[in-house]
Amino acid sequence: MIIYAHRGASKHAPENTIPAFDLAYHHDADGIETDVQLTKDGVPVLIHDEKLQRTTNGNGFVKDYTYAELTQLDAGSWKSPQFADTVIPTLEDLLRWNQDKQLKLNIELKNNIFPYPGLEETVFQLLQKYNMVNQTVISTFNQESIVKLKQWSTELNYAFLTSKKDKNLIPFAESIKAEGIHIQYRLLTNRLVEQANQHDLYVAVYTVNLPLSIKRAIRMNCHAIFTDIPKLAVDLRKNTL
Ligand code: G3P
Ligand code: MG
Repeated sequence: MIIYAHRGASKHAPENTIPAFDLAYHHDADGIETDVQLTKDGVPVLIHDEKLQRTTNGNGFVKDYTYAELTQLDAGSWKSPQFADTVIPTLEDLLRWNQDKQLKLNIELKNNIFPYPGLEETVFQLLQKYNMVNQTVISTFNQESIVKLKQWSTELNYAFLTSKKDKNLIPFAESIKAEGIHIQYRLLTNRLVEQANQHDLYVAVYTVNLPLSIKRAIRMNCHAIFTDIPKLAVDLRKNTL
C-alpha cells in the first residue's frame, strides 16, 4: 500500500509547503499529495483552499493575486512561529524539490469551485519538463479534467475523487477511463474494493490518520492512503499483517 503524505506531513508542518514535504520525505512517505490552483497570472501554486485566510496571512481568493503578490505572504505562522518564513510554493518548486528524491506524486487539480482554464495543460507541461509524468497520478473532483487530459496523454494516471456515496461510482469512473477512485475513508467497504478491482480500478482513501483506520485500509488491500501523519502509517505498515 502506497502512503501519500496528505498536503505533505501536514499534522506537524504547514500543509502544502516545502517544510511539510521535507518532513514527509524524512518520515519515509512514498509520495506527496498536494493541491494545485492558478494565480491571476497563470502560475500553478500549491494551496488547498480557494481563499487565502486559513493558511496564510492574506485575504481573498488565490485567483485574484499574481504570483509575485502571493510570495509576500506568510504561509507558515498559522501553524507555528517556527515556520514564519514559509511561502506558498509553486508546482515547479515541488518538482524541483523532488528531482533528487523521486517520490511519487499525487497532484490534485483544485478546479471544482473555479474552473482555472489552462490548469490541466500547465500541470502536464511541467510534469513533462521535469520528467515526472510516470510517477504522478492526477486526481480531481472535476471529471471534465480527466476526460480532457486523457485525450492528450495516456501516460499519466488519473483518479476520480469523491466524498459522496454513489452506487454508480464504478461504472462512472470506468466511463471516464480513470485508473482509480480516491474516496473519503467513510465510503470504504470490502465490497467497493472488490468491485473496483474487478473493473481494473484501484481504490485509494483519504484522509486516514487513526491507527485503526490505517490498519483497516492495509488489511483491505487499498492501493494507497492519504494521511497527515506519514510516520504513523509507515510504522503501522511494517507491523500490520
Ligand atoms: O486527494 C485526497 C484529498 O486531498 C482530497 O480532499 O479536500 O483534502 O483536498 P482534500
Ligand atoms: Mg487534496
